[in-house]
Amino acid sequence: MWKKHEKFERHSLWLIIGIVVTVSIGGLVEIAPLFWVESTIEEVEGVRPYTPLELAGRDIYISEGCYNCHSQMIRPLRDEVERYGHYSLAAESMYDHPFQWGSKRTGPDLARVGGKYSNDWHRDHLINPRAVVPESNMPPYRFLADQDLDRHAIQAKLQAMRAVGVPYTKDQIANAEADLLAQVDPYASQTSDLRRRYDARVNQGDFDGDPNRLTKLDALIAYLQVLGTMVDFRTYQAENPENLR
Ligand code: HEC
Repeated sequence: MWKKHEKFERHSLWLIIGIVVTVSIGGLVEIAPLFWVESTIEEVEGVRPYTPLELAGRDIYISEGCYNCHSQMIRPLRDEVERYGHYSLAAESMYDHPFQWGSKRTGPDLARVGGKYSNDWHRDHLINPRAVVPESNMPPYRFLADQDLDRHAIQAKLQAMRAVGVPYTKDQIANAEADLLAQVDPYASQTSDLRRRYDARVNQGDFDGDPNRLTKLDALIAYLQVLGTMVDFRTYQAENPENLR
């Protein structure tokens, strides 16, 4: 045994070849099975693609760089679960391209911020964070309330998402602009097909407090209000709880 080992210890070329062979075996065993499993994400009831307005809001979240201060990923650690709620499931970000897990928490995690505050609170907070949280060091985003939302690109955005695997239907793509407008119209909840196309629980209403205008703030708040609300954790059961421990 020692004699054979000597060859590796005394000749660096043999050592390198030995390392490459060993690491390749380890890599193959870990990586190869992933090519044969259909999906590594367990599907969970309730998770749906974003509505056109929420998707537009998500783009604003990304372009304003909110992810530089906020994560959207609750880890299964006791302190995080007690503070933010049920830990994040892979399925909850399966339609996020790119995902917004983030790596920095200057502000709190936002994975379950949906429904935590009213639309009015979000409007006041985004316009001037200090108005509602005096010690806040979050920057103000007042300009979002003054800028119109460009809704003409929305159909193309849904199509782009479909191209990367989000299952938007033809019906949803064809009606993208109409659905976007219906979501900010509190009177459209009965007349439009938005809820039929997405989910009966879609938030409809005026988000930014200015019913006469469709602004970037409307879209951003609609997005924040859906975060973490798609899965009903009162009834959720992990398919294979052993995997999640
Ligand atoms: C410079 C870092 C920073 C940036 C950038 C930032 N935030 Fe914040 N955010 C904070 C801090 C700090 C808090 C905690 C104090 C507060 O509530 O204002 C916070 C709080 C929040 C809250 C309340 C969370 C809760 O659970 O109470 C929301 C919602 C929020 N931010 C949304 C946003 C959005 C949307 C953007 C981008 C448009 C953004 N933030 C950009 C630092 C930031």
